[in-house]
Amino acid sequence: MARTFFVGGNFKMNPGSREQKQALVKLLNEAQLDPNTEVVIAPPSLYLLPLKETIRKEIQVSAQNCYFKESGAFTGEISPTQLADAGIPYVILGHSERRTLFHETSAVVAQKTVAALAAGLRVVLCVGETLKERETGETDKVVQEQLEAVVKQIKESDWSKIVIAYEPVWAIGTGKVATSAQAQETQAAVRAYLTKAVSQGVADATRIIYGGSVTAANCKELATQPDVDGFLVGGASLKPEFVDIVNAKN
Ligand code: G3P
Repeated sequence: MARTFFVGGNFKMNPGSREQKQALVKLLNEAQLDPNTEVVIAPPSLYLLPLKETIRKEIQVSAQNCYFKESGAFTGEISPTQLADAGIPYVILGHSERRTLFHETSAVVAQKTVAALAAGLRVVLCVGETLKERETGETDKVVQEQLEAVVKQIKESDWSKIVIAYEPVWAIGTGKVATSAQAQETQAAVRAYLTKAVSQGVADATRIIYGGSVTAANCKELATQPDVDGFLVGGASLKPEFVDIVNAKN
């Protein structure tokens, strides 16, 4: 089944100066981008609207997180409805930094996913194991448990609005990218789990992307893997090489 290649840029709590942001937008607006790749960039919330107004129309913007309530006394949070009202089409949920640093459980990630979908957002749903979990052979079990929390809460048709990002925690920000075999093995297991837990149609159609130290140097080989449908890029999304990663299938 042909799945549209997806490349997301997760800026995290970067970039710094106004000049850096302007240079990045200029670079992306002038770059030759593969028209068959869906490109989504997730700046810090403060920059969502200005970026949406200045980035080329082929590139969509995404929030990096949202809450699971529409409104109320939740200081510091952003509502999925507010994102939708602002014309922000995507939100990243369940990133390992939210799970570890901000103690987000899979149940909370599932609540947020339900609320984001209800607000009409598309979701990049992050899953992934720690180094210890990989070394003890628990990768598939951990990833499936993270997915199961969402599977139990949403309808089959909701999956058309979800991109799954497999991001091994031990590869994020470390320069230790997963090998193509590791990424393919785990992402094939995710697809097999979707077949069993949801349906063959959802398993075939859902984009499963890889994240964790993706660079221009390693993206092309990773992109040859049958179950690698794209990337969620951190550090390299702030650099000119992000264009090469978007064009990894060329
Ligand atoms: O969400 C993508 C991010 O976690 C990957 O970060 O810097 O390893 O590409 P990085």
